[in-house]
Amino acid sequence: MYLGILDTPELASAAAAQIVFSLFKKEPNAILGVTTGSTPEGLYAELRAAHARGEFTLANSQAFALDEYVGISADHYERYRNVLRRELVGSRNTGLKNENLHSPNGLVSNSAAVAAQYDRDIRDAGGIDLQILGIGSNGHIGFNEPGGSLVSRTHVTPLSRQTILANARFFGHYPRNVPKTCITQGLGTIMEARILLLLAFGENKAEAVAQLAEGPISARWPATITQMHPEVYVVTDAAAASKLELSELYQERWALKFGA
Ligand code: F6R
Repeated sequence: MYLGILDTPELASAAAAQIVFSLFKKEPNAILGVTTGSTPEGLYAELRAAHARGEFTLANSQAFALDEYVGISADHYERYRNVLRRELVGSRNTGLKNENLHSPNGLVSNSAAVAAQYDRDIRDAGGIDLQILGIGSNGHIGFNEPGGSLVSRTHVTPLSRQTILANARFFGHYPRNVPKTCITQGLGTIMEARILLLLAFGENKAEAVAQLAEGPISARWPATITQMHPEVYVVTDAAAASKLELSELYQERWALKFGA
C-alpha cells in the first residue's frame, strides 16, 4: 500500500489524478471503476480540466459505478448514475460516452439478479483496471458495511444507520428520504480491480484511515481488506491522516515512488 498525505483535499485530488493519468498514458482504453459521494469531486474536476486541455479522455473507455441506490427514481438528482453522468459523461466533461457508463440498475424489482449480472458485466468487459474509492467513517468501501463478508460479490444490502445519517445531507438533511437499500460491488469484486485508488478527506475519516492502513484485517472495518491487494494507493489530506502512527514511513515511501 502506498499512502500519500497531502496538506489539503485539493492537493490530494491533484496527486490522485496523476495516478489516473499515468495509467491512461500506458493504457488509453483503461476501464475505470467510479465512486460517488463528496470525496471524488475534486479528482473528477481534475479529470475534466485535463480533458479540456486535451491531455486526457475517457472517450474510448468504459466506466463501472461502484454502487447504486435501490428504488430511487430514474430522474432523481442523487441517483448515482445521474451524479456520475453530471460529473463525467460528455465532451464537456471527460468524454465518457453515456452508453459506456455502466451502473447497477436499482430501478427493477429483482435487484439480486441485477447484482449477479453486474459482476458478469465487469468480467466480460475484461475487469476494472483502476477502481476509485472513498471510505465511510465506519470503514465501508462501496456500501460494504461493517460485519459483511470480506469476499462478497456485487449484492443488495441495507445501508447502516450511520451511512443513512451521513448521506442525509444529499437528501435535504432528511434521513427518512435516503434510500434504505443499495446494490454495491462486493469486497471480492472490488479486490479484483487491478489498481485501487482510495481517497479520504477530513477528520471524520481519520479513524477509518488508521484502521485501513494499520488495523487488523477485519469485517469490523471493511476497508482493511485492501491490505491484501497488491497495488493500492491511498491519498489523504492531513486531517484524515491524523490518527496514523506511521505517517513518516508512508511519506518516505510515497516520496521515493512519486517524488516529494
Ligand atoms: C459512494 C460510496 C461510498 C462513499 C463513502 C464516502 O459511491 O461507495 O463508499 O465513498 O460513503 O462518502 P463521502 O465521499 O461522501 O464522504
